[in-house]
Amino acid sequence: MDRLVLQGGHRLEGQIPISGAKNAALPLMCAALLTRETLTLSRLPHLADIRTLSELLQQHGTRLTCEKAGTPLNGGETLSLTAQDITSTTAPYDIVRRMRASILVLGPLLAREGEATVSLPGGCAIGNRPIDLHLKGFQELGAEIDLQEGYVRARAPGGRLKGGTVHFPMVSVGATENILMAATLAEGTTIIENAAREPEIADLAHCLNKMGARISGIGTEMIIVEGVERLHGAEHAVMPDRIEAASYAVAAAMTRGEIELVGHNLRIVMTGSLDVLKDAGIGFRETGNGVVCRLAHGRIHGINVVTQPYPGFPTDMQAQIMAMMTLCEGASVITETIFENRFMHVPELSRMGADITIHGSTATVRGVKKLLGAPVMATDLRASMSLVLAGLAAEGETTINRIYHLDRGYEGLELKLGACGAQIRRETEPA
Ligand code: UD1
Repeated sequence: MDRLVLQGGHRLEGQIPISGAKNAALPLMCAALLTRETLTLSRLPHLADIRTLSELLQQHGTRLTCEKAGTPLNGGETLSLTAQDITSTTAPYDIVRRMRASILVLGPLLAREGEATVSLPGGCAIGNRPIDLHLKGFQELGAEIDLQEGYVRARAPGGRLKGGTVHFPMVSVGATENILMAATLAEGTTIIENAAREPEIADLAHCLNKMGARISGIGTEMIIVEGVERLHGAEHAVMPDRIEAASYAVAAAMTRGEIELVGHNLRIVMTGSLDVLKDAGIGFRETGNGVVCRLAHGRIHGINVVTQPYPGFPTDMQAQIMAMMTLCEGASVITETIFENRFMHVPELSRMGADITIHGSTATVRGVKKLLGAPVMATDLRASMSLVLAGLAAEGETTINRIYHLDRGYEGLELKLGACGAQIRRETEPA
């Protein structure tokens, strides 16, 4: 198992190219199952989750061809996905347990083949994360659902889903994406109410429309999908990763450095994080290439922040902003409303000298003068990034164990930070 070793206290300066968004890439890849023709996706990040999903899609009969290998620093990979014939409609436990987003094959398989069997994803480090909203949505489109031996079996009577109104009682990114994909091939019109509005969903919807889908209300809480008989091939570039961009903005501020995030429309893409990051003291300046970030007045301001569905502050940035707040002037209050059990970074940050108390879903962070390097344990993807950020700013050496979490979501992390002057290296843990 690999670990990261960081020597903190170095000012970061330079450019970081922002990769394609993992959370956009995963549903986009699943959309390939909706058509016999080829879907070509560019700007795919090199990440463990992308490899896991590739394995699953191949297992359903999708042929994957790498059109351009790419590197983390030059715009990612271009992959052609052709699901000419679906050879299996079952997503096995062995793959689904490794990545929850595997549940996103259910909608496309069910819509195209009239049936699908997908292992229940099971528990997850950041909370219970059920899939009831996905299943309720499929039922509204006429599917019959059975749960058997840890698997969900969904069937469309007559072989085709029927358009209907799906009202989500709470906002879910994954459920919105799954129903959206399924509805493209349903008979008649589907209305999705209380849809999630995350930009990754809009990216998916735009790609589906390129494939011949008829989706309107994109980016709003009411999405309307007129079902069509079939979809065709298309080409699509994955949108930039707003969480990666915001994470590196925090890295610039915490090390009192200056980083140019390189990519298109980054300020727009970061809506949701941007106001909070500005309140925290980060200044943003647009350039021809992207946006330059630095601590605007030399101080980190304490903030009050609550995680919310988009366009609110993303739960996927909560751990990173907390790392930043450990060094704020005064105190900060951070409330997590999306996932229970998403404060697992707190004990680790405390080991580095942070002053944090938790009451239920609220953390109070009192700023300290400095953090001190320490051996710490990564617990989930975003928690791991908060430890990297803390380690970059801390005095001395920080060793982060279990970094396979980071490999799921941050493309070329050491490469990108190293290019800006971070002292960071990967070591293979002795057995
Ligand atoms: C997606 C993102 C993840 C992000 C999250 C919230 C991907 C691959 N992952 O996850 O990085 O943290 O959105 O922005 O895009 N819920 C239910 N029943 C369901 C589905 C969800 O109760 O059927 C609950 C969840 O437990 C959670 C909340 O709804 O409390 C939001 O979850 P959801 O938006 O579905 O997250 P994911 O799509 O899993």
